[in-house]
Parts: sequence; structure tokens; C-alpha cells
Amino acid sequence: MADGLMRAGKVRTAASLYEIALRRASPLQRNAILVRQGLATYPHQRRVDLLGALEKLEGFGSHVFIGEGLATWHKTTPFLEDQRFVELAHKHASLLPIANWHWNLQTVLWALKRARGIIGDFVELGVFKGHTTIFAAEYLEFAAWDKRWHLYDTFEGIPDDQLDPGWAASNKATYSGTFSFEEVRDRFSAFPNIDVIKGRVPEVLEDSTPERIAFLHMDLNNSTAEIAALDALFDRLSPGGIIVFDDYGWATARAQHDAENQWFSQRGLEILALPTGQGLFIKPV
Ligand SMILES: C[S@@+](CC[C@H](N)C(=O)[O-])C[C@H]1O[C@@H](n2cnc3c(N)ncnc32)[C@H](O)[C@@H]1O
Repeated sequence: MADGLMRAGKVRTAASLYEIALRRASPLQRNAILVRQGLATYPHQRRVDLLGALEKLEGFGSHVFIGEGLATWHKTTPFLEDQRFVELAHKHASLLPIANWHWNLQTVLWALKRARGIIGDFVELGVFKGHTTIFAAEYLEFAAWDKRWHLYDTFEGIPDDQLDPGWAASNKATYSGTFSFEEVRDRFSAFPNIDVIKGRVPEVLEDSTPERIAFLHMDLNNSTAEIAALDALFDRLSPGGIIVFDDYGWATARAQHDAENQWFSQRGLEILALPTGQGLFIKPV
């Protein structure tokens, strides 16, 4: 019934029904309902297409997960069994215009936990409304960590001279004039060890960059700034330090993929492509 309401555009009522159904659901039913709940937070008609794809995949068997750009089935989804993960992902879902980002969040959490024992601070290049970092900072109770996290963004979208062809129009529509520095700074006010910094990459990195970096979340949606950031920051990444490239494998981000592959291969290094679209790199010790 709730699925029918989703199709009819009565998303709030559908979301309430999913909430009620969750209270009595078996573990398998719970997974299926949580995925639907995630689709219900997606403010696009596209949620109906994703719901249709979900139902088709459920015809193949159990354990189906679907979000924008990624579907899995017959696979364990450990994050759905983690109540804290589920609650925080749901709480912050509206900060990202993409449905069910759980697999991607899981990669970042894994990297952060590993990087805790590595010398250096954490850096995010490309913050938008702070979705990934606020989720992870709350999940990990980062305020108590002996690390700092530096978040850099223009807070005005991608500079015109850095827009890559192919997805310039959607990048402009999504990130120009849709969020502010003040809003994001306030979102992190409970974290004295997180700094929100306004400026353009790479220029802003000349003024303020940590000496050593343990974790870098690279998410600038353009190849010019990401390559310049690698030039500026790579030597500061500690041995064992981790880079998660958010856009690397998305077909729209092909310019980043190719430029980054070239940059790493020139140094005898390689990025691991993940099915989430992320690229993962761990600096050799
Ligand atoms: C995809 S969003 C980041 C999403 C964020 N990492 C998250 O997980 O929610 C890309 C961001 O990069 C920022 N950006 C792009 N080019 C930039 C540059 N050269 N300097 C600073 N920020 C930039 C945009 O303003 C936009 O907010």
C-alpha cells in the first residue's frame, strides 16, 4: 500500500506507513522497508523509477539495496543492521540531492576509522551542505578525537573556469546559490575540532593547510581543482594515509577519472575503483 502511495506522489503518507511497518518487521522485511524509506526522502520524481527497479530486483531474491547509481542484491548490507548508522543516514539525507548514499558513507567511515591511527589531520575538499562529514562526525563522536578536520569549499559552487564539459549545467544548477558558508559553519558548531573554510581550491590551500594529512575526502566535481589539490597536498599525506575520491567512477566525472589515473600512474601508483563510484587510494608505507 505504501508503495502505491509513493507512486501516487503521496510521499509523506507513504513514509509514515513505512515507519509503522518497521515496528513489526522481520529482519529481511526491515531491510526492504529501510531502502524504501530512503527513496521517500528523495525529492525527485525519480524515486518512483528507483522503486520500480527495486521491485524488479526483489523478483530475483532477497537483500536488495538500491540508491542512485548503485543496486546490489544477494549481498549483505551491514549498515542496515547498524541502528546508529541507519538513524544518522536518515537524519541527514536531505543534505544531499542523491538517494540512499549508504554504501558511500560506509566507505568513508571505514577510511576514517583506519586513518585515526595515522599521523595528521582530516581534510575534505568540496563540502556542499556538509552531508558526509556531519554524518561521519556524529557517528564517530569526532569531537572527542585528538584530530582536526578541515573542510574547504567556495560555498558558491564550482568556479566557472573549472567546470568540466558534460555535466556543467547540472553542476551549476545543484551547487550555485543553493547553500551558504554560514549554514554549514553552524551545522558543525558542536565540533570544536572541525574548521569550515571558505575559499577556492587550490588557492585557499596556500593560506591554510595542515602540515600532515591522514585522510582526504576529494569531492570537487571537477578535474582542474582536484589535480591542483593533489599537486598541493599529496606530499603532506602520511604513509598509510587515505584518499577517497567521491566522483572518480561516475560516468559524468570521466574527466576526473582520466586525469587522476594519469597523475597516479606517472608516480607508479594506482587508485582502486569501487562500485559506489568512489576511488580509494592508500599511500604506501
Ligand atoms: C559534490 S559537492 C560536495 C559534497 C560533499 N562532499 C558531501 O559529501 O556532501 C561539490 C562541492 O565542491 C565545491 N567546489 C567545487 N570546486 C571548488 C573549488 N575549486 N574550490 C572550492 N570548492 C569547490 C562546490 O561548491 C560544491 O559544494
